[in-house]
Amino acid sequence: MTAIRMIAVTSGKGGVGKTHLAVSLAIEWARFGQRVILVDADLGLANADILLGIQGGHTMKSVIDGKCSLDSALIEVATDQWRRATDSDQGSLLFLPGDIGSSDLAVLEPSHQERLLETLQQLAGQADMIIFDTSAGLDWNVIRFCQFAGEALVVTNREPLARRDATVMLNVLEVVSPSPHRWLVPNQVIDELEGRRLYEHLEGFCKDRLLWGGCIVQDQAVPEAVESRSPVVLHEPECNASRSIRELARTVLDHSPSGTDDDGALFDRVREILQR
Ligand SMILES: Nc1ncnc2c1ncn2[C@@H]1O[C@H](COP(=O)(O)OP(=O)(O)OP(=O)(O)O)[C@@H](O)[C@H]1O
Ligand SMILES: [Mg+2]
Repeated sequence: MTAIRMIAVTSGKGGVGKTHLAVSLAIEWARFGQRVILVDADLGLANADILLGIQGGHTMKSVIDGKCSLDSALIEVATDQWRRATDSDQGSLLFLPGDIGSSDLAVLEPSHQERLLETLQQLAGQADMIIFDTSAGLDWNVIRFCQFAGEALVVTNREPLARRDATVMLNVLEVVSPSPHRWLVPNQVIDELEGRRLYEHLEGFCKDRLLWGGCIVQDQAVPEAVESRSPVVLHEPECNASRSIRELARTVLDHSPSGTDDDGALFDRVREILQR
């Protein structure tokens, strides 16, 4: 069986750039030829759809509630929106809208657990990578998505509160995930040196290894892109932020963490997490 990668893009504090990064990385991985599914796993302000120019549609919650099929909820992001002439033509990008709403993944009833598992299995059947854009903080739903994924990109900026909350999130993931692969992604840094320092500072608070894949520079092109409802990698592909996102995407793609499960092992793990 092929190994599928599931990656949760998460943070301790809100507003540090998760959604923008998750959408941008999903596009870059698709450009590199990966079949990518981006799942909006944000509970509150689900807004990845806005950056992808997608409106309405069924949500993951409707699928888990049994109100619609996964196929009717999955939305294909048209290749002419993101693929360039030089990109691999193997890649694809699908989006599953969010609104998990109040359904608490920590206390799903058995029928819903089964449907969630089925949904993840079906997603895995048509993807190389599944990316969860989570909400911020230590909500059980956030932790659950990080546990399912087994690999997390923890985003922070330089603000003391964001750093502190990122440390708490990293420590919690260390405890709740059996073998957590955690990347720390400093965002809105002045340069790589500042990003490295942030990474080393936070690594000092972790027992297990923290992965380094690069950082994203502060760039006015990002808020300008968001203002025009687009991720920066589409709006201004050659600006500094876009370049750093592309490098991060490449590094994470090239570094498949050791011990990546095959699909069978992965879903045994998800089932076990759901039944705990
Ligand atoms: N590298 C960057 N340079 C400049 N501004 C940035 C950068 N990354 C993100 N931002 C700004 O931060 C804002 C918040 O980003 P985003 O919505 O992705 O955060 P979030 O972590 O998903 O928030 P929430 O916790 O509410 O889900 C963006 O609208 C953008 O203006
Ligand atoms: Mg967000």
